[in-house]
Order: sequence, then C-alpha cells, then structure tokens
Amino acid sequence: MRHPSPDSGKDPDLPSSPAAERNAQPILDELRRVLPARGRVLEIASGAGQHAVHFASALDGIEWQPSDTDPVALRAMRIRADRAGLPNLQPPVELDVESRKWPVEQADAIVCVNLLHISPWSATEGLLAGAGRCLPAGGILTVYGPFRFAGEHVAQSNARFDADLRARNPSWGIRDVADVTAIASDHGLAHEETIALPANNHLLVFRRGDLGDPGQ
Ligand SMILES: C[S@@+](CC[C@H](N)C(=O)[O-])C[C@H]1O[C@@H](n2cnc3c(N)ncnc32)[C@H](O)[C@@H]1O
Repeated sequence: MRHPSPDSGKDPDLPSSPAAERNAQPILDELRRVLPARGRVLEIASGAGQHAVHFASALDGIEWQPSDTDPVALRAMRIRADRAGLPNLQPPVELDVESRKWPVEQADAIVCVNLLHISPWSATEGLLAGAGRCLPAGGILTVYGPFRFAGEHVAQSNARFDADLRARNPSWGIRDVADVTAIASDHGLAHEETIALPANNHLLVFRRGDLGDPGQ
C-alpha cells in the first residue's frame, strides 16, 4: 500500500521538518515489522506531528499517542491531528521524558525519533526509565537517530553534526549505542536490534524483559 509523505505540501501554515518528511517512510517500514499489529503506541518527542500522522494513517490497528514537552510543538500537532481526522490518532499529551511520572502510564510499545542527540543525557536516562515503567514484558521501545558505535561516528557528516550540536549546547551530542544499551539494561530493556537506515541514522530496538520491578 502506498502512503503520502507526511506533509507533502499539506499544512503549509504549520511547522514541518524536511528530515521528518524524508525519514518517515524508512522508519515506518521497520515499525511495521517490529511493532505489534494492535495496541497502544506512545510516541515520545513527536515534534509538530508529521510522523504521528504518517504512522497512524499506515498502522490502523494501532492507537497512536503522540507527545512532546514543547507547547508550540503540541499546538501544531493538535491542529495537524485534527485536520488528519484519523480515528486511531489521539490528541497529543504534554510529556517530559525527564519527569518521573508520565501522563501515559502504560503502552504496548514506545517510539522515539530524534530526541537523544538533541537533549541532555538526563533525557536519555529519563526515556529509558520511563519505558521500563510503561512497557509490559515483551513490549518494544524503538529509538531512531544518529549514533556512535564504540566511540566512532559512522560518517564524517555525523562527526560534523555532533560538533555542531555540542557547540550549540554542550549537553547535547550524538550518543554511543553502548552507553544507551547499558542504561536500557538497568531498566529491564534488552537491546535486540540495530537497523541501519538512510542518511547514516539507525533504529535501535529494545524489548522489555520480565524482570519484576525495573530500576528507577
Ligand atoms: C529534533 S525534534 C524531533 C521531532 C520529531 N520526532 C521528528 O523527528 O521530526 C526533538 C523534539 O524533542 C522534544 N523534546 C526535547 N526535550 C524533551 C523532553 N525532555 N521530553 C520530551 N520531548 C522533548 C522537542 O520539543 C522536539 O519536539
């Protein structure tokens, strides 16, 4: 089945990201494979909602719950979701991954695109702690973005991007997969897959184990 690109000329009055337009379909192709066919998916850091509309329109067995912490993004997302009129796309909720109490306490899966490198390390820790709390045994967390592997960038362009991010904010930067998976494991999340996607980005897949109470 073909789906329109997330914005493809629609909603010219709303903020939109060209990167989100380009990466939506490659990410969706993997989500179809790793997400459950039915259930509730919590999207973290949804931005202006381009992915939320694209993914919800393609994954109609899923109740898609977008979220973000930025009021401007939330407002744009609300308008975009209203216009899309998708029965399985919920209005966005305000969710800061660093908060110890999320407004969504249970989800069958969690999707997070392009947050880890553009937020402090405490946001990565918050995401993984929150996923450990929200997901049932067997539940999936996917995290998309640029990553380093054993300290190395996968491309010169990623190294330049990393330097640029750190110049903008010293607490930002491209994370190393080993550091992310170590914290994930503290919260009962086993690293299952690393999928290479276009433009030197990767999708990391984690599965919540049945370990009793995760660490907080
Ligand atoms: C680079 S944008 C990515 C947006 C969207 N996922 C995409 O790929 O187009 C990063 C998003 O993370 C959100 N964000 C930053 N810090 C956050 C936090 N602590 N909790 C939740 N969202 C956060 C920002 O408001 C922004 O919308």
